[in-house]
Amino acid sequence: MVLDPFATPRPHSKENSSKRAGHVQPGSGRLVGRGGVMAAVSMKVNGKAVSGDIDPRTLLVQYLRETLRLTGTHVGCDTSQCGACVVHLDGQAIKACTILALQCEGADVLTIEGLANGSELHPMQAAFREHHGLQCGFCTPGMIMTAVDVVQRLGHDLDDHTIRDELEGNLCRCTGYHNIVKSIGAGARAMGGEPVRQAAE
Ligand code: FES
Ligand code: FES
Repeated sequence: MVLDPFATPRPHSKENSSKRAGHVQPGSGRLVGRGGVMAAVSMKVNGKAVSGDIDPRTLLVQYLRETLRLTGTHVGCDTSQCGACVVHLDGQAIKACTILALQCEGADVLTIEGLANGSELHPMQAAFREHHGLQCGFCTPGMIMTAVDVVQRLGHDLDDHTIRDELEGNLCRCTGYHNIVKSIGAGARAMGGEPVRQAAE
């Protein structure tokens, strides 16, 4: 079932009228407010099984940030343009503000918090640090999740033009992109086994 994230509940409809009294509908969810019913969702996030009842209108990004408190995934716009919310869904980069949490039922979600290997940074994270690929850092989680996806799709040898092209859906308000492109090139090579070299100042 495709759900409309912007649909508003119809509190006076026949369908919802029996739920307004405040009792739980057996087997159909839990009352959350005027006409709103909770829905069960379960998925894997960063390798861990999570589940719970949510408002069916909850976006994946809201579920991650507000329910699971994984606040590394950012919200930088309300027009699906900035890419600050990029996570991996079943191995592919997506903007978590464009999909409902319910649509991720049974899926495998990877956020920036799940990228490092314990205390060891992922090679793409290390490359951003070494090559000064960030200033305020607000866009960085989305940039890194996109970059890892690009490497997984296009390989370790990425030229600047390809990287800039692939970053079309990620906006940075601080860096001018130059060091981000440099970081992604280095991170891509590092994911292929080449050590991340210290950037020249
Ligand atoms: S918050 Fe998702 S694209 Fe901006
Ligand atoms: S580093 Fe500030 S928005 Fe990109």
